[in-house]
Amino acid sequence: MIQQLILLEKEAIEHINSITTEEMLTLFKNDLLGKTGKLTVILKGLKDLNPEEKQTVGKFANTLRDTINLVFEKQKETIKQRWIEEKLANTWIDVTLPIEETIPHLHPITQVRMDVEDTFRRMGYEIYESREITTEYNNFDAVNVPKTHPARDMQDTFWLEGNGNVLSTQTSSMQNFILKNNTPPIRAIIPGRVFRNEDVDATHENTFYQVEGIVIDKNIGMDHLKFTIRTMLSDIFWKEVTIRMRPGYFPFVEPGVEIDFSCPFCSGNGCKICKKTGWIEFMGAGLIHPNVLKEWGLNPDEYSWFAFGFWLNRLVMIKYGIPDMRYFQNPDIRFLKQF
Ligand code: DAH
Repeated sequence: MIQQLILLEKEAIEHINSITTEEMLTLFKNDLLGKTGKLTVILKGLKDLNPEEKQTVGKFANTLRDTINLVFEKQKETIKQRWIEEKLANTWIDVTLPIEETIPHLHPITQVRMDVEDTFRRMGYEIYESREITTEYNNFDAVNVPKTHPARDMQDTFWLEGNGNVLSTQTSSMQNFILKNNTPPIRAIIPGRVFRNEDVDATHENTFYQVEGIVIDKNIGMDHLKFTIRTMLSDIFWKEVTIRMRPGYFPFVEPGVEIDFSCPFCSGNGCKICKKTGWIEFMGAGLIHPNVLKEWGLNPDEYSWFAFGFWLNRLVMIKYGIPDMRYFQNPDIRFLKQF
């Protein structure tokens, strides 16, 4: 029996060393050591031997199994090593090739929002996040738009069933929150998503982004407002722009203004983007209305203030020459890849 085993060992080792794949190696291992494997079958004959022989042959068989197992492991390692060497020899990477553009990047709205936040942070502002669902009171009454006010019709509202809550139609709905939770001096901007029940076209969306700004401090006036907006826009366009104010109506400010800025693309000479006027109409602002301030019990003799609000989507459209507001909500990769 020992002879049989010695022969088996010799043949097995020779065969293992000639195997070149891991799969074949596993198959052969089963063939040899598995339940019905060659070695197992030989060892079944042990039961016919006398106790002394049984012990000798048994011991021999165990050592033989260990040896074969070792040879299997060694060959497995050799095969693996060979595979790595082959791969290294046949595959190569040209590190000088440009990297394919698979790096993810932020949506243009997010990119510009972060730029806007950076500028205001540098000017000492705090950044708040607006609430997408708010009360009728915050969205309208607290900013001087009572039920009977025609200004409620200026913004078509999504009303939520049952509780009188609304989807924020404007980030101005956050003014109340900011003033209730802070004491002056206050410098805050509130970027956020707002919703209007609008028919959608190239310049109207039912879902878009605004940025609200609010400042309450001593000796604050229109000049500060003008400086602030000019600084932000110059930062966003990487170019000094000038600001123009025209009277404008917004219920929460008095006086209210519309702010235009000099076209950064033609430096005010007139081009396609500014429709040959040299100016781009941009946003609303003003000194906070006394009715709004009464809500918070602030004394107009002690403090002064301004507020402003603009459409972030519009800023991004101007910056990148995007002709249609509907692109922002559209997950078309051809649009998104450009930023
Ligand atoms: N809430 C206005 C809008 O939705 C924007 C705005 C205008 C905000 C004037 C203001 C402001 O704070 O003073 O178009």
